[in-house]
Amino acid sequence: MASSESASAKIAEQYKKWVYPQPVHDLDAFVASGSRIRGEPSGLWPKYWPRQRQSRPLDILVAGCGTVQAAYFAYHNRDCRLVGIDLSAESIQRQAALVEKHGLDNLKLVEMNILDVATLGKDFDLIVSTGVLHHMGDPDAGLRALAACLRPDGVMDLMVYGKGLRVGVYMLQEAFRLLGLDQSQASVDMVKAVIAALPAHHTVNTYVNSTKDMHFDGGIVDSFLNPVDRAYNVPDIYAFCENNGLAFMSWHEGFRYSLAARFDAAHPMQSLAARLDARTEAHVCDLLTQSQGTHSFVAAKPAHVEANRVDFRSPAWPQMVPVRHPHLVGPEPQGTAIGCSREGHQFFLPPVSAHIMGAIDGKRSIAEIEALATRAGMANAPANVRTVVETMARFGHLFVLI
Ligand SMILES: C[S@@+](CC[C@H](N)C(=O)[O-])C[C@H]1O[C@@H](n2cnc3c(N)ncnc32)[C@H](O)[C@@H]1O
Repeated sequence: MASSESASAKIAEQYKKWVYPQPVHDLDAFVASGSRIRGEPSGLWPKYWPRQRQSRPLDILVAGCGTVQAAYFAYHNRDCRLVGIDLSAESIQRQAALVEKHGLDNLKLVEMNILDVATLGKDFDLIVSTGVLHHMGDPDAGLRALAACLRPDGVMDLMVYGKGLRVGVYMLQEAFRLLGLDQSQASVDMVKAVIAALPAHHTVNTYVNSTKDMHFDGGIVDSFLNPVDRAYNVPDIYAFCENNGLAFMSWHEGFRYSLAARFDAAHPMQSLAARLDARTEAHVCDLLTQSQGTHSFVAAKPAHVEANRVDFRSPAWPQMVPVRHPHLVGPEPQGTAIGCSREGHQFFLPPVSAHIMGAIDGKRSIAEIEALATRAGMANAPANVRTVVETMARFGHLFVLI
């Protein structure tokens, strides 16, 4: 068997027995509990298509959809047409039950390998694939297969493992292989017993304490007993895109790749950081923080990325329209500052920024926001608006329609 075929066979076997993620039986209750599934796209259109609001309905492919993801997206995007594909018949069955329960007639589920996606005979505006390509024998072949059914102005929303936080995971995977563990329940119990006995200084503990995957056996198999698993750093991600006919477009959590977001503004390193291009800064930040077990990013065809680049110095700046990220919380007064947060990143803005953040409604242009702030008595409104919008956009907390 060719290596990618044998990898697919091993992975199919794993996700047949240990489906991922933990199945959901009722999406109404799941959503009411405040739970979310990775990569849900509604509210992200300005990130994917800054140049125009994409007219719906969209065709969306969820590649390696697991037990919930495609059904959850179909539930939230009833006017879009979705296809969910996965190697694991068991995972597909879990989602078929959700289709039935919630009347999701906008979702088609197909048991298939990503490598065969062309046989669907379809192309897509949006392809979401999170936590999947790094489990393929040849992830580049997987990405190329997906890119081949991406429309010219389509986007791909991807998540692959990050090297930094997973160093300890790979140490344990190797130890467990040498100990002869397999994917049986006895091996899963042994993994738990070993992790409970590790010295506190073991680097895997940061990963263990930060992942939800320790709370169910399928997650433990996925992390520690997975036979096909590789991780990426920032240069690997750019190369992954560029070697497969795509271009990197943006990070989901820009703040994780920004030295300004992660280190004190007064730290002497900041003057060195200012000389770095965005790609190098992201890599340096990843190396210095060692906090990324995953990288979530958007890729597209090079022409789409070029046409949708947000140039903060463009003469069109006054006509651009900032849009809040749907998960941004705040601004809320916090002592003498204004606090905002998203995905665990808490940040503070000077009180003067409250007017600016409050004026960002997804409709007002930069010029209109500046005028509002000036009328409210703000000195240097254009400079303040620029600082707030540019910084928040770089951190991924705002999108900018161009
Ligand atoms: C870790 S789960 C992620 C599920 C889902 N994307 C999520 O984020 O919740 C990986 C899924 O990818 C599927 N998968 C792995 N390799 C695949 C391939 N070559 N073709 C199709 N599905 C694949 C597995 O069966 C499994 O359901």
